Amino acid sequence: MTQQPATRSTSSDSSRRRQRSVSQSFLGELLTEQLADWQQETGTDPVTIVDLGGGTGGLATALAGQGHSVTVVDPSPDALASLKRRAAEAGVSDRVTARQGDAGDLVELVGAASVDVLVCHRVLEYVDHPGDALSEIAACLRPDGMLSLLVAGRRSAALTHALNGQFRAAREVFADEGRFDPDRLKRLLGQAGFEVVAQHGIGAISDLVPESAPESSAQAREDLFALEHEISTDPAFRALAPYLHIAARLG
Ligand SMILES: C[S@@+](CC[C@H](N)C(=O)[O-])C[C@H]1O[C@@H](n2cnc3c(N)ncnc32)[C@H](O)[C@@H]1O
Repeated sequence: MTQQPATRSTSSDSSRRRQRSVSQSFLGELLTEQLADWQQETGTDPVTIVDLGGGTGGLATALAGQGHSVTVVDPSPDALASLKRRAAEAGVSDRVTARQGDAGDLVELVGAASVDVLVCHRVLEYVDHPGDALSEIAACLRPDGMLSLLVAGRRSAALTHALNGQFRAAREVFADEGRFDPDRLKRLLGQAGFEVVAQHGIGAISDLVPESAPESSAQAREDLFALEHEISTDPAFRALAPYLHIAARLG
């Protein structure tokens, strides 16, 4: 599994990056690279992806645009209605399926041991029992399938509150057992039968710099993107990043 998402960038990558925040661009390229590596290793084409808690389908539509077949499972009917509109506008409706349900319904909705790649971004924070959700995810993945997991970091949330002068909120967030840090997440993944194959901090620097900084020149943006990439695997920056991305496989 690659750890080097920024090294294969092209000029069309850089123009696409300018439309989005640096951390979003970095995450998008990371996932694209990891998917491509997984596809090459397993010889899978096309890939069936389930986006658990995929919401209004920003990522699902982008993945469908890359030729993948994506099923979004989400409890919100409003989000799924937006997803359908978005997929139609992007001309990928034939590769996007919306299923209403939550993490506990996953095997029933998509089948056991059937899914190539499961995406679960910014959702584990909302489920009542994250360990149970990870076990359900493990049950619906095929044995050599891949999980792409993104969660908000506990330390970064505490830091953000503190920098805004909300010290009580910072203390509460820091003490909250329900929030994630790399060690806790790895423990939960291990209990559900997963092995971590790559982990990256997302937004550790780029989400902290003023928006005007990367906009000052294309070069500044490219430099910030490269910096974000370089520090994303550093354990100290990773622990402090707003989001932690983990690619995992069943052990
Ligand atoms: C912060 S949004 C993230 C949306 C999308 N994954 C993204 O990264 O932009 C959280 C999503 O999780 C969904 N959600 C909440 N509880 C859930 C559950 N128990 N199982 C599955 N999805 C859930 C919500 O409906 C919402 O679409």
